[in-house]
Amino acid sequence: MNQNKFELILNSLSETNNLGAKLGKSLIGGEVVELSGDLGSGKTTLVKSIVSASGSKEHVSSPTFVVSKEYKTPKFTIHHYDLYRLDDEGLIANELSDHYIDDNSVTIIEWGSNFSDVLPERRVIIKLSPISENARRVEITYPDNLEYLIKELRA
Ligand SMILES: Nc1ncnc2c1ncn2[C@@H]1O[C@H](COP(=O)(O)OP(=O)(O)OP(=O)(O)O)[C@@H](O)[C@H]1O
Ligand SMILES: [Mg+2]
Repeated sequence: MNQNKFELILNSLSETNNLGAKLGKSLIGGEVVELSGDLGSGKTTLVKSIVSASGSKEHVSSPTFVVSKEYKTPKFTIHHYDLYRLDDEGLIANELSDHYIDDNSVTIIEWGSNFSDVLPERRVIIKLSPISENARRVEITYPDNLEYLIKELRA
């Protein structure tokens, strides 16, 4: 699958929220989003804005200790994973692959980079890097068939 890449700078929390809102509105179901970046780079913050823009009123918090949480939206269920504390991918591999093939599910994964064997090729990877307290560099990698998620972000 041909992979595309682009970069943008978010100068404030509200610009991050804006990015998440655009993404949340573009999701149709069946997508997988991998969020990478160090502790405190803004992964869970981005999930909050994605979930809320998808039409869910559910509260988003970090699933670091419970591994996964889910949020119902009018269009699909968002499965939010944090694999930071996971040491055996075997425990979630089946569960994840069930979501990937389900058009009523969107899967968002924090700290997935150690488990790329269980992540699908068809996914958007968003890498957040702090450049100051409130600014972030964002690198987005995505295959051609997820271009529809990204085109709004370029505008
Ligand atoms: N532009 C920005 N984008 C995202 N977060 C920002 C920004 N500016 C400041 N922040 C702050 O940075 C913190 C990011 O924390 P968050 O929990 O989202 O990080 P995380 O990447 O999920 O960390 P962890 O790896 O521990 O799960 C929040 O307190 C947020 O308010
Ligand atoms: Mg987090």
